[in-house]
Parts: sequence; C-alpha cells; structure tokens
Amino acid sequence: MTAAPAPKAGAADNAAGLAGGGPRSTPRHVAIIMDGNGRWAQQRGLPRAAGHKAGAESVRRALQAATDNGVEVLTLYAFSSENWRRSSEEISDLTALMRYYLERELKTLEKEKVRLKLIGDYSAFGGELVERLERAVERCADNSRITLVVALNYGSRAEIAAASRRLAAKAVRGEIELPAITEQAIGAELQTADLPELDLLIRTSGEVRLSNFLLWQAAYAELLFLDTLWPDFDEAAFTNALAVYARRQRRFGGR
Ligand code: IPE
Ligand code: IPE
Ligand code: MG
Repeated sequence: MTAAPAPKAGAADNAAGLAGGGPRSTPRHVAIIMDGNGRWAQQRGLPRAAGHKAGAESVRRALQAATDNGVEVLTLYAFSSENWRRSSEEISDLTALMRYYLERELKTLEKEKVRLKLIGDYSAFGGELVERLERAVERCADNSRITLVVALNYGSRAEIAAASRRLAAKAVRGEIELPAITEQAIGAELQTADLPELDLLIRTSGEVRLSNFLLWQAAYAELLFLDTLWPDFDEAAFTNALAVYARRQRRFGGR
C-alpha cells in the first residue's frame, strides 16, 4: 500500500518538505514562546520591566527575520491567560509596553505590509488598549507580505473549550449531527482556523514546556527549545532556527 489518501493542501505542502531542501524546507508558520525577559533583566541587576522592554526589540527583529526569510505566518505568545498571576505592577508594565510598541511600530507594520491578527481573549485588557489593538488590526487588514499573530491573554485549553462549546451548541440546535464533530470541524472553530498548519514552535529561555500555547496546533509541529533568553534572540538566532528546521525530517506518522 503506497497510495495515501489525498492530503489537504497544508499537509501536501508539508509532505513535499520531507525530501529536505525542497520548496518547503522553509516553514510556512513559525510560533515563538518568547520567554526569559525577567531572567535577562535579573542577570543585569535591572527591573523585570527592562527585560520586557528589551524583549520588545526582539519582536521587531524576529518579525524582520521572518519576513526576510519568506515565512508566511509568525505567531508570538505575548501574554498567557495564566500571566494574570503576576503582580499588578508587572501586568501594567506589560500593557504599557504593548501600547508603546503599537504606537511606535504601527507605521512600520503598514510600510512592511504586515497583516496583524490577534488571538486570545484580548478584551480583558480594557477599553483603550483594545481600541488601539483593533485599530491596528484594521489598518493592517489588507496587507499580505507576512501575517503577525499576537497571542494576548491566550490559553490553548480555553480556546479548545470555546470551540467545543460552539460545536455542541450547533448540535443542540440540530444544525449538525454528532459525526460532523471531526478534527477538521474543531480546527475550523479555533482562532487559528485561517492560518496554515504550525510547522515550527520555538521556545527561548531553556524552559522545556508549552505553557498552554497552541496545544492542538502543535500536534505535528517541530519543537525547538533554545537556551537563549528572549531579549538576546536576534536575526541570526532566527536564521539558525530555520536551519535546524530544514535539517529535521518530518514524517507525519509515515516512515
Ligand atoms: C516572557 O518573559 C514574557 C512574558 C511572559 C510576558 P518572562 O517574564 O516570563 O521571563 P522569565 O521567565 O521570568 O525570565
Ligand atoms: C509563557 O511564559 C508565556 C509567554 C511567553 C507569554 P511563562 O514565563 O509565563 O511560562 P511559565 O510560567 O514559565 O510556564
Ligand atoms: Mg517566563
């Protein structure tokens, strides 16, 4: 038995990358758990906020490197649904930084033709920031060079639970039958439904865990855990990560 059922477009593209060095040796979709800002600051005797500020510079560099390398989607974990456990001081430092970054970078996002998309329940950040975020998304809506997805107050389990509730509601209303609740149907209810499959998931700072990020989407992603602290992550680090990815042999359950 050699013939496989015709895979979906995304899977076919990924499978094409199996040979290595093919057109898909570059990941279409890269996600990053940007971790280590606090430790970076601590090592320098600086307040944690200084680490977050330096981390924002890494965001700019990573976006540039992703664009330069032809990555289609860069998804960044900026604030998890568990990050509310931090002190109110740190949370307000982080939201102030988001506001500042948006203000400073929006022109660049427009000029560089970056489409912006948000995932997570960002409404929790309250009026003014939410307005700014939505305005930025709107202004970048027609861009198509790269999609920058920012995960804000994001939790993968909450995302999957919400998707399940929506499908269950449809079933209760009699709009769908139970067999229609397939992997595809669940995937289509996730906030990432319009994005290509996740190919590469990077976490900086030496922690080896997913911290409730893209659990469903990472099913067949290549995982890369780096010791680099996020503020030290630069263009070269991004290019290196792509080189590691290109050497990986993706099998998707085949041999
Ligand atoms: C990641 O850096 C940034 C966010 C979670 C917002 P951390 O703040 O988690 O840095 P460490 O892990 O304490 O070093
Ligand atoms: C994950 O980092 C969240 C973000 C990078 C936004 P954390 O620092 O919050 O994760 P844990 O607490 O080490 O798992
Ligand atoms: Mg951390």
